[in-house]
Amino acid sequence: MSHFVIHGGVPLKGTVQVGASKNAMLPILAATLLTDELCILNNVPDIKDTHSMLAILKDLGSEFEFKNHTITIQTKKIKTRQVNKEVVSHMRASILLLGPMLARLGKVSMPYPGGCVLGARSIDTHLEVLRDMGVKWEGDMDDEIVLDGKPKPADIVLKEMSVTATENAVIAASLADGETTIRLAAIEPHVQDLCRFLIQLGVDIKGIGTHTLVVSGKKKLHGATYRITSDYLQAGTLVLAALLTKGTVTIQGVPIHDLDVFWNLLREMGAQFTIKNDVVTVHPTKRLVACKRLQTNVFPGFPTDLQPPFTVLLTQAQGTSYIHEALFEGRFAYVSELKNMGADIRIENPHEAYVEGPTPLSGMTVRSFDLRAGAAMILAGLVAKGKTTVTQIQYIDRGYEDFDETLQSLGAKIHRVDD
Ligand code: EPU
Repeated sequence: MSHFVIHGGVPLKGTVQVGASKNAMLPILAATLLTDELCILNNVPDIKDTHSMLAILKDLGSEFEFKNHTITIQTKKIKTRQVNKEVVSHMRASILLLGPMLARLGKVSMPYPGGCVLGARSIDTHLEVLRDMGVKWEGDMDDEIVLDGKPKPADIVLKEMSVTATENAVIAASLADGETTIRLAAIEPHVQDLCRFLIQLGVDIKGIGTHTLVVSGKKKLHGATYRITSDYLQAGTLVLAALLTKGTVTIQGVPIHDLDVFWNLLREMGAQFTIKNDVVTVHPTKRLVACKRLQTNVFPGFPTDLQPPFTVLLTQAQGTSYIHEALFEGRFAYVSELKNMGADIRIENPHEAYVEGPTPLSGMTVRSFDLRAGAAMILAGLVAKGKTTVTQIQYIDRGYEDFDETLQSLGAKIHRVDD
């Protein structure tokens, strides 16, 4: 266990490059199971989730090398239907193995994935999509997901626009010889990136970026070299860090149009920044005004994963801001920590909250409840007076590569302490 110690109040200054997307890496790495040929993935984030997914793939028979943000991987044969139980217990994204295991092997077993504190997050959408493709549920499915059968082409309507269920459906359809139509598909940037990778493997996919995907699967797929997209969530977090500290920061490699709603809200609040191609420069903003409605939604709506860090900015804005968290009923857990630091936030119900600002924040020991809540705690520490200690940073390490070092390069006083 480690923790971060932050001494707040330092305006960030300098230039940073946005790293690669965790949520694109996970399904793409899982999808390398679809072929027995070599895949080379560039721009891979060196984060805990990458190593967890690689641990699963190793058990299944994949051979790989991971260095300098490049993974060279080949799975000549899948050795077992059983997905590593220990990793599944702490990484919810293990569910992404269902699609590729069924497509290549025709069977898979894994316990129900753990690791989530955000809400109920049923996996019904995943299981129903696969059943629609002819996959059989085996046994009582009480403790373990046991599925049999190679997915067949189908016309599918998702129960909701679930990101990872869409990814499982597209991957499952990739080796189904024929046309699969997936309606109510999620269109988050990472779903689109997965589709572009699958095209490189030889799959034909129409409708990328729309809610209807038409996947023409192939009997056999080949290897490919692919560069993983950069992380719009990390980009947004860095922009917020710069604004909060009234810094002058240039952020390069930003997927600008993945964040259209985010820029609109910042403009509404009076934030000072410029965008040129994929470069965003944040300037010190004297006064931020409250945000009338921060409404999270599926893409291209405001990403739920940026809601906690954005709320920290709302604590520094003049007036009453309203937040409607439409997706996760457990996403406001971090609010108690912010309130302890001095924020004035009223939670109406699990989906709605009001923030009164501006309120000065004071440093203290706060917990990181999940990955994005952890990022919010770091941002709060950067703007707070005095010393903030952020514990349970293993969540942050799951998704942000060397976040402390990135912030240090901008002048932040943040240090990792190993307990
Ligand atoms: N939901 C709706 N309406 C919808 C779609 C989803 O209310 O139309 C609700 C679901 O009921 C659920 C929640 O939203 O409670 C999330 O659903 P989804 O199935 O889309 O989530 P996921 O696929 O399990 C991925 C990301 C999450 C991210 C969500 C939402 C990966 C590996 N995980 O999860 O990422 O929060 O989509 O965008 O891609 C993170 O990176 O910190 C993270 C938690």
